[in-house]
Amino acid sequence: MSSYSCLSGFSDNLNSTRAMRLEDACWRWSEKLGFNQIRLPLIEERTLFERAVGTSTDVVEKEMFSVNDDQVLRPEGTAQAMRAWLNAGGQRKGPVRWAYCGPMFRNERPQAGRYKQFNQFGCEAIMVNESAFDADILINMAELFSTLAVRDKLVLRINTLGTMAERMRYRDDLLQWLLPQKDNLDEVSQRRLFSNPLRIWDSKDSRTKELMATGPCLLDYLGSESLQAWRRLTTALDVAGVNYVVEPGLMRGLDYYNGLVFEWTTFEDKAQNTVAAGGRYDGLAKLLGGVQAPAFGFAIGLERLALLLDKESETVETEREGYFMASLSDVDTYALQVALLYRRAGEKVFMGDDMTKLAKQLQRADASNARYALIVGDTEAKNKTVTVKDLLTGIQTTFAVPF
Ligand code: HAM
Repeated sequence: MSSYSCLSGFSDNLNSTRAMRLEDACWRWSEKLGFNQIRLPLIEERTLFERAVGTSTDVVEKEMFSVNDDQVLRPEGTAQAMRAWLNAGGQRKGPVRWAYCGPMFRNERPQAGRYKQFNQFGCEAIMVNESAFDADILINMAELFSTLAVRDKLVLRINTLGTMAERMRYRDDLLQWLLPQKDNLDEVSQRRLFSNPLRIWDSKDSRTKELMATGPCLLDYLGSESLQAWRRLTTALDVAGVNYVVEPGLMRGLDYYNGLVFEWTTFEDKAQNTVAAGGRYDGLAKLLGGVQAPAFGFAIGLERLALLLDKESETVETEREGYFMASLSDVDTYALQVALLYRRAGEKVFMGDDMTKLAKQLQRADASNARYALIVGDTEAKNKTVTVKDLLTGIQTTFAVPF
């Protein structure tokens, strides 16, 4: 028998009910914060990501799946959302808050928590320029993670990249500081020194990490405006009681960021420990040919979030709901009418598919995760009633059906 490996996270690692519940929780959360759903295409122009994410980033340089010379499978949604906003005349129309959910594609070496096809739930707010807004999102992300019972497994790491000018000044100084010590860097970092020295902060090599910790720090390069925004943000987090770690080496692997960047990570020290990430990208609209449009967003990796859910939250997640129709074949027309009545009242009814023995159907009802079984036999059909059995308590009651 041939075997096929699955490239996606959800299909192999999550049953779809669990995935839907996770997505549902994210949608409900984002609606409360005023985000509206946007659907972004799976196939996109290659140049969009080259311009927005940056040609020297891993995502663009090594990980994009080509559809043809000009098009790729989307590796992320931020550049697409900004393109959609610009194309829709956003500069005239004004601010938007968009949320999206769906597969992204990156040609990475698959392992637990890292897939070639994975799902992101993302939110992008375009034309917002307030650190109070950023703080509000972070505070509410903490709430979302609490609701999903994973809050205590995550650390919020934050940093600020300042303005482009501040970052460039830092980049030049870092390069000058590192050049005489080049040989103490690992091989990849030596290459990055000339292409993108800020990415040396991403190195996992302990010697390189130690060296970087003793070098110039980006926070020292911030001007008064950047510093004020940073202080407003950290104060808001402090007041809300959201713990965070300031990580001066957090640079994020995508070029469009400025100002606040953040990651929600697990405590393990491995590349795929980041569950959600984002930040400000005030310069992206201009980079794509538009005007300056301050923006902020993030994306949650749904597979990674799902890996965090423990057995306890899984039980909560799979709470019994709805009805299972257990009927006998000689009363199936009546059973269909009863099911329709329940569905019209907004209830979920799962139709049994083996109408021979009631006992067998009740077993199936139990396995279906329904809360109640609707039992319809000869007596019920004759008296125009339905017997409802609570599958948790076993209590059974017969009701008249209002036909
Ligand atoms: P990112 O850090 O590249 O940011 O991805 C966001 C999240 O997607 C990661 O934290 C991780 O949970 C998940 N993820 C990334 N790659 C993989 C993979 N190969 N397998 C499984 N999960 C993965 C972005 O994509 C930005 N667009 C986020 C953003 C939105 N920034 C501003 N707005």
